[in-house]
Amino acid sequence: MTDFFTMNPGETAAPVPPGPVLSSGSTGIRRVHRFLLWAYGEAPNLVRSAAQGDASRAAYVGEVLGNFDKVLLIHQEGQDLHMYPQVAERAPATASHVEQMLDHHRQIRERVQSIEPVRKRWMQTADAADRDVLAKGYEDVQSVLEEHLRREVTEVMPVVDRVMTETELKAMIQHGVRQHDKKFLVTYLGMILATNPPGKYSLGRFPLPLVSPTASSGAGCTASNTRRFSLDARFPKRSRLQGRGKCERVRRKAGISERALGVEGRTTAGCPGWVRRFRLRPTPTVPKHRKS
Ligand SMILES: [Fe+2]
Repeated sequence: MTDFFTMNPGETAAPVPPGPVLSSGSTGIRRVHRFLLWAYGEAPNLVRSAAQGDASRAAYVGEVLGNFDKVLLIHQEGQDLHMYPQVAERAPATASHVEQMLDHHRQIRERVQSIEPVRKRWMQTADAADRDVLAKGYEDVQSVLEEHLRREVTEVMPVVDRVMTETELKAMIQHGVRQHDKKFLVTYLGMILATNPPGKYSLGRFPLPLVSPTASSGAGCTASNTRRFSLDARFPKRSRLQGRGKCERVRRKAGISERALGVEGRTTAGCPGWVRRFRLRPTPTVPKHRKS
């Protein structure tokens, strides 16, 4: 099966500047884009799943879609502020591509904002006419978004990897961290994991800001972060992680198995400071009260 992130005939990638690869932002962006692709692929029929007058269902679906919209707009805003200006300045040959991507962002933002009043009204009334307008509106969003999600990855991200550092991309991550509700971010992590290839993205492969309760958009997943935060590398096999600390509560709340996170059979004993910041408590292998 052809990968979604494949250029269509007639499309061309921006010229990649010479020099070393400075970051792997494109890897993180693909993960976020796979989630958005799924979310907006589902949106029209989610709306249509609420019958006329079923206000309870409409309120629930509307809230979910509102969260999708917020993720999407904040993700784009982060790129507008912390990625595209730098790319345009450092790789002038990408100017036409940057312009195209920013225009996509504008079109998507306008479509999402135009259906927001309909969504909010429909959440109250579950009116069939509003439902149909809203479903059509999400189809319009999806039509532009799908092209954008693909072309941003295939045409622009290879340049981003060459002209932006991991540190700079963290600004884009923090842009999302600051604006999302922390509880929602746990759910968001679950959706990112669920919409990306199984087995390939364990918790240890995500940067700390994404795996922690103060997670981010995930756009900054990097090779260096993977090494630094690899649970496999850091967690000795002493005893199981069982119901201890915030991490475990987060994992259970998100409905994610230990296997999916790559922490099966692992414990935090002997882990460094970043784990303590994550509020995991070590499982002692020898009880403290035991005499030597
Ligand atoms: Fe974008």
